[in-house]
Amino acid sequence: MNSVSEPQLRLAARVDAIAPFYVMEVAKQAALLERAGRDIIHMSIGEPDFTAPEPVLEAAANALKSGVTQYTDALGIHALREAIAGHYAHAYGIDVDPARIVVTAGASAALLLACTALVDRDDEVLMPDPCYPCNRHFVAAAEGKPVLVPSGPAERFQLTAADVERLWNARTRGVLLASPSNPTGTSIAPDELRRIVEAVRARGGFTIVDEIYQGLSYDARPVSALSFGDDVITVNSFSKYFNMTGWRLGWLVVPPSLVGAFEKLSQNLFICASALAQHAALACFETRTLDIYEARRLEFKRRRDFIVPALTALGFEVPVMPDGAFYVYADCRSVPHAAAGDSAALTRAMLHEAGVVMVPGMDFGSAAPQAYIRVSYATAYAKLEQAVERLQQLFGR
Ligand SMILES: Cc1ncc(COP(=O)(O)O)c(C=O)c1O
Repeated sequence: MNSVSEPQLRLAARVDAIAPFYVMEVAKQAALLERAGRDIIHMSIGEPDFTAPEPVLEAAANALKSGVTQYTDALGIHALREAIAGHYAHAYGIDVDPARIVVTAGASAALLLACTALVDRDDEVLMPDPCYPCNRHFVAAAEGKPVLVPSGPAERFQLTAADVERLWNARTRGVLLASPSNPTGTSIAPDELRRIVEAVRARGGFTIVDEIYQGLSYDARPVSALSFGDDVITVNSFSKYFNMTGWRLGWLVVPPSLVGAFEKLSQNLFICASALAQHAALACFETRTLDIYEARRLEFKRRRDFIVPALTALGFEVPVMPDGAFYVYADCRSVPHAAAGDSAALTRAMLHEAGVVMVPGMDFGSAAPQAYIRVSYATAYAKLEQAVERLQQLFGR
């Protein structure tokens, strides 16, 4: 064992700027209760309860056996980029050149690459509040400034073209959106998205749209932001719709003129995404696998159609019907409980008194964190029913 005491290393200031997730605190408490023998229902989870389907596992096993496990092209294997382009044609009716597709280690690496490529020190990037918490940190990692724009039910919890027009200044470089959104499950209406893209374009900025949840849309055929011009950058992933969270695989579609820059950055920062995951992911686009994903999408829709009215009956308000992802952003100000309107206290009470874990709004922004709770329905239907029964008891409903 080394006898020299550990010298105190100075951390970069950007580490302090990152707030830990409050949900981790709640998860720790839940784990403690579970170890003590309590049955806990997890409705805080941001990943599908389904895992990669059989054809993907078979493809992974074959890839392992045939030894295609070495570095790949930095942009990804050609067959996968072609398969992703084919998916855009099939699922969204749009033509995307495979040459514009950059395969990455999940949407996380895609967002980091996009921010590294486009954001300079002190550049401002507009995003809605609430939003996926890591988005602020991707911008901050590139030494830019995330500008959180309070976005309520009237805006479907999303940024609007009017926000872009009102808030754009000499330091603004672009917008970072997610549609459908985490934590709200709401997407931007196609007409509004078109207006946002046009407003940003007119100001010489960039539009990045994270479409990671787009495959999980329930009410209308989704429209990719790529339909609004080749200058739009979209982010996507195999994590959510394709049920492959731990495989760490995603992609970006970038403007043709930026492919070289993204390739250079990708080579230097990551070399490539996992070869094994890329070969396995080819099986996602086979008809038999797409049929499995469609059945799972319908199961998520069934759960949404159960949980939204159930939450309303419990006394939560769901001001905008979530049309995608697996989240409901529920207003907790009028629930019949002493902690109503204090999402952190209510989350603790639901955990300790009912054994149900949800995430308080404070993880997603600072505009109205006490008023909202994120409810995830990425858990079995029977568990959701059980959770509702427990909350009925807690709230005396
Ligand atoms: C909106 C959003 N973007 C990106 C990610 C990261 O996904 P990935 O697993 O592809 O890195 C998540 C994960 O929860 C997310 O909710």
